[in-house]
Amino acid sequence: QGLALWTAVFTLGAYLVCGIPFGLVVARLMGHVDVREVGSGNIGTTNVARSVGKGAAAATLLLDLGKGLVWMLVARHAVAALALGGDVAALDHTTAFGASLAFVFLGCICGHVFSPYLRFHGGKGIAVGFGAALGLYWPIGLAALAVFLVLAVPTRYVSLGSVFAAASLPVWCVVFGLPAAAIAPVAVAAVVVIWSHRENVRRLARHEERRFSFHRSDKE
Ligand code: G3P
Repeated sequence: QGLALWTAVFTLGAYLVCGIPFGLVVARLMGHVDVREVGSGNIGTTNVARSVGKGAAAATLLLDLGKGLVWMLVARHAVAALALGGDVAALDHTTAFGASLAFVFLGCICGHVFSPYLRFHGGKGIAVGFGAALGLYWPIGLAALAVFLVLAVPTRYVSLGSVFAAASLPVWCVVFGLPAAAIAPVAVAAVVVIWSHRENVRRLARHEERRFSFHRSDKE
């Protein structure tokens, strides 16, 4: 019961913290643009790179990744201490703890994609998802990153790598032996990320997707 309550508290916290639209803030401060009105209109790293440049993209990536990672680490330690008497490592693979953290992970993704600060609009959940996946169970984050790099680097289609990396998440949960109860929240998070890429998927199918580029070197 205590675990369920703390899970709810930290999932809500994840939603509120990961809802902070850092890309929007960074592009406004560093490039004086509303990133929602340029390129793909997304508030993430890829579109900040397109609309402002390398420095702003790096800042957005670090902040978006960081909010997911930091919140998951806070939740991991706090939930273990508050509800389960400590020893985070030993509890990593317990069913209750795994499911609890997976719900916090889902909260991170939903906060970014349905931001409470942008009238429930937001980004596509890739950088925050990578950070949060590292905090959920770091091998899963690295495995999803590998999927992303294998597809995105040679093609320069960030969205292609993103969609398949998201789709791979529940598979990695099974491969790395996370508790079964953790799989459903992670799968829902993957569906949210893939759904947020629906326009990208349409463009990819029509061979009209934008390839990754920096504003200064490769204008659209
Ligand atoms: O990180 C989001 C990425 O997968 C696609 O971004 O701007 O090309 O829609 P964008």
